[in-house]
Amino acid sequence: MVVLGIETTCDETAAAVVERPGEGPGKILSNVVLSQVNEHAVFGGVVPEIAARAHVEALDQVIAKAMADAGHTFDSIDGVAAAAGPGLIGGVIVGLTTAKAISLVSKKPLIAVNHLEAHALTARLTDGIAFPYCLFLASGGHTQVVAVRGPGDYVRLGTTVDDAIGEAFDKTAKLLGLGYPGGPQVEKEGARGNPMRFPLPRPMQGRPEPDFSLSGLKTALRLEAEKIAPLTDQDVSDLCASFQQAIVDVVFDRLRVGLKIFRERFGAPTALVAAGGVAANQAIRKVLHRLSFESGTVLVVPPADLCTDNGAMIAWAGAERLAHGLTDPLEIAPKARWALDDVAGAASRPSKGP
Ligand code: KG4
Ligand code: ZN
Repeated sequence: MVVLGIETTCDETAAAVVERPGEGPGKILSNVVLSQVNEHAVFGGVVPEIAARAHVEALDQVIAKAMADAGHTFDSIDGVAAAAGPGLIGGVIVGLTTAKAISLVSKKPLIAVNHLEAHALTARLTDGIAFPYCLFLASGGHTQVVAVRGPGDYVRLGTTVDDAIGEAFDKTAKLLGLGYPGGPQVEKEGARGNPMRFPLPRPMQGRPEPDFSLSGLKTALRLEAEKIAPLTDQDVSDLCASFQQAIVDVVFDRLRVGLKIFRERFGAPTALVAAGGVAANQAIRKVLHRLSFESGTVLVVPPADLCTDNGAMIAWAGAERLAHGLTDPLEIAPKARWALDDVAGAASRPSKGP
């Protein structure tokens, strides 16, 4: 089964062609990602209207390249998937409408994919792991601990009550005058810093539910920075290192609780899986290794370029849904908000195709 996937929910214009050979991992036949980072960097964050316009300008060529790289035509694929949300609605409309046009003209089924579901299923594309597994999803907009039991079968065990982890990295970078996107910048600066220098809080540590709270940490960091302003390069590095260490400690504690609750409710998970842009962070990867070792759970962390937004994850989620007969009508609406536990699965929705 070969599916084209289109991703336009944020600031990457991406398309990919992926093959799902039945059970086991998938095969990425092409994966084209055009980042708009330079267009947004001067504003210190993603500007929705600029993002939507850039998607309109680039998407046709990105799809053409993905098809050519894969050696496929619209006639030779089995379905067209697009991220239908959650995300910046202007961009989502561009990607979903394009997928609808391809579906209509080539008479191939349309699959409207939830962007978070695509992050959640990436570990099956890369490693072919079985359900159920415990997912740690940490991106710019989301921080969640989820029991992944099947396509369209997700139970959220914990989430953030305020900022997402990626958002906290981005805000920290902005506060310290570092570039956008903030996560990689904070990681890079922090590598030269002292993680013990600033006594930052570890919010929610020890709580019985695997929830996160990060706005207090961000405020504490701002207060520490204000106390010693003007900041030297070493101050910035130490603040980054201290911030990242606080996040690492919080992730360890919160996920330990998440795994415990997973076991109580669903039995042993097949794996602990990390997804979303924050999973590209090496210090976070390291602490996930420690946790998996201590808890006797296999750890699966897809390569960094499949953790950040890409078309292959959308194509794969589309292929997984298509394999279960889960297709969508052309009238399907784009969604700015769309929780993972609201994604319909095989048990809850009959197959509908164009
Ligand atoms: O999943 P993603 O590409 O986009 C969505 O938000 O859906 O995640 C982007 C987020 C940004 O907040 C970015 O700062 C963060 O992931 N990020 C990182 C790293 N690379 C990306 N955070 C920490 N360390 C990194 N190396
Ligand atoms: Zn994402």
